[in-house]
Amino acid sequence: MIIKNNNTFHLQGRNISYIMAVSSAGDLIHIHFGKKLRDRDYSDIKTVWHDWLAYTDDGISLDLYPQEYPSYGHSDLRFPSYSVKNRHGNHITQLKFKSAVIKENAVQQLEGMPSLFQGGKTAQTLEITMYDEIAGLEAVLSYTVYDEYDVVLRSARLKNNSDCEMIIDSAYSASLDIGKGEHDLIYFPGAWARERELVREKISYGVKIDISNARGGSGHSMNPFIMVAEHNADEGHGAVYGLSLIYSGNHSSMVECDQYGNIRIHQGLNPFRFQWSLENGEEFTTPQSVLCYSENGIGGLSRELNDIYRSNLCRSKWSDRERPILINNWEATYFDFDEEKILDIAKKAKDVGVELFVLDDGWFGDKGSCYKGLGDWIINKKKLPSGISGLADKINSIGLKFGLWFEPENINPDSEILLSHPDWAVSVSDRASSLSINRLMFDLSRDDVCDYIINKISGILRNANIEYVKWDMNRPMTDIPYDGYNHKYTLGFYRIMDAITSAFPDILFEGCSGGGGRFDAGVLAYMPQIWTSDNSDAVSRLKIQYSTSMGYPVSSMTAHVTAVPNHQNGRVTPLGTRAATAYCGIFGYELDITKMKDDELLEIADQIRLSKELRHLVLTGDFYRLISPYDTNYCAWEMTAKDSSEAFLFACRILSVANSSDLMIKLKGLDENSDYLDVDTGVIYGGDELMYRGIEPVYEKKDFAAVSMLLKKL
Ligand code: GLA
Repeated sequence: MIIKNNNTFHLQGRNISYIMAVSSAGDLIHIHFGKKLRDRDYSDIKTVWHDWLAYTDDGISLDLYPQEYPSYGHSDLRFPSYSVKNRHGNHITQLKFKSAVIKENAVQQLEGMPSLFQGGKTAQTLEITMYDEIAGLEAVLSYTVYDEYDVVLRSARLKNNSDCEMIIDSAYSASLDIGKGEHDLIYFPGAWARERELVREKISYGVKIDISNARGGSGHSMNPFIMVAEHNADEGHGAVYGLSLIYSGNHSSMVECDQYGNIRIHQGLNPFRFQWSLENGEEFTTPQSVLCYSENGIGGLSRELNDIYRSNLCRSKWSDRERPILINNWEATYFDFDEEKILDIAKKAKDVGVELFVLDDGWFGDKGSCYKGLGDWIINKKKLPSGISGLADKINSIGLKFGLWFEPENINPDSEILLSHPDWAVSVSDRASSLSINRLMFDLSRDDVCDYIINKISGILRNANIEYVKWDMNRPMTDIPYDGYNHKYTLGFYRIMDAITSAFPDILFEGCSGGGGRFDAGVLAYMPQIWTSDNSDAVSRLKIQYSTSMGYPVSSMTAHVTAVPNHQNGRVTPLGTRAATAYCGIFGYELDITKMKDDELLEIADQIRLSKELRHLVLTGDFYRLISPYDTNYCAWEMTAKDSSEAFLFACRILSVANSSDLMIKLKGLDENSDYLDVDTGVIYGGDELMYRGIEPVYEKKDFAAVSMLLKKL
């Protein structure tokens, strides 16, 4: 709920308060974001501070004040929320409060960009209009709060009310001045096959500016989710702020610790190579940033974000449905397949309980690889004589659903479509474009190009019984034609995703980008699941899934059992460990099942039976990280039903150690007064015992040994 108390605006979520007040000088001062407070009027807040430090005649120095959307250069010399060049060629602006409106029962919706939706919850939106008379700049700051979540959604809309052109050099979605204190920054850099590695470092003086990506999509190299945690906060305790950007292009989060030790955070579009011109009357809207706060550590914050992302982000009917267990042919065949091979895989997969067959890259073009045919999407009849629809029918008659891989945004240079429309690829004049795996990017800033892609892909989806789509994107953005292009492209990307996913509401869509290179809340608004990484080695996945789960629900992370030696790093892990690592995710297989031995097939059938039993927990349970693979030789996590009626524990000892004892694991979220049955062994434990004494799993004497345990309340 939102309370207006004189000049104070107080947003209250389930356990949080977000408070701001308009000072006597008209500045919008940030008062509090944290544990819920009782309401009071803060508008008598004093902004005059140490006269001798003030830069202005009236003694006001905003340098010393927490603010909502600060500017640089008048009396605040810290990093600003935005930077706009005015008619005189300078960047000096001073936004002052003009008006505020509270919209009942409304969640801020952004035109052409994804945002959280209301989804039957009670929510209110506050829009505060700030104004700079001299520059003619208006900024509308939007805040949404839900009664039952601990989040605040923010974005900003900048409008040019002057009679001259205005240039926006940067416009963050949200800024948060959290004040002093010993805090750590937690963020998720990475690379292909090493996505979202967990980094935690102490925040000290200066500006940490490079939590950003300028490679095209949200990127392998940095995820648009960060946390700022009290230095002593851990998984279960302490105050933690999270900022998650609903955006799939170049992004930036930054943290400044100023000369007084005050911490300022910004999140939004990456200002690097960004510029946006506004003529009189035009406006620019930033993406939405989700600000979250928990007193219950990183785990508390993750579960809060998980809940809202599971129920209020993705409009697909699949977002709350159990997902089919799939088999994908990519690592089984790469480009070397024909219909017979595909049907052999599908038949074997059906026998062990798989529900969906996915045909990956290489079904189109005369070479049947991604080096020719991207963009034209003409089926390779040499490989697939019955075409996609014939193959889909044959897969259906085996008893499986059929899914297909696409890479809608890319195009091979010698494709028919590019030959007839040479200006449809992203490029700069007078310079040959950089090719990445022989691909160029379609210019999604153009409506005609977006229309072509929408029609082309829709045509294929309409002509065959395709029930799942893997939407890939396998190259970074290079040869950017002008500053701000990346944002225009991203808007085009949202347009085509929106058009295709809404035209085919029954299809389950999965996002992908060279593995997990576009794992962000923007994609998750259209597609309920994303391929987490091309690296499905069980040991690598411990870290990748552990850290990804901090910002995203396990129901969004796809996890496949693949062959050994692993294709990315050569590691050999037991089949049981590969499956156990994947259970707390959207489970599937990506290996040549026709080459598996009989005992392995029996094991796979058991794995599939168990994963089907666990699917509802993946979708609705609470996820707890229990032991970190970043700090120990172990990894443990747990999914628990919200009503504590059952739980699934996964634990892995990475390397075997002679003559040592293993770590005890304390479970979470159980009913301490009830007993729990270990379904496999028949052993009964007390909920109190499992949570407060813990259990010591018995690992086999070998490397990469995993243990899993399904517990049901008696
Ligand atoms: C990307 C994906 C893989 C596979 C290949 C096909 O790398 O992450 O899963 O689809 O493309 O080219």
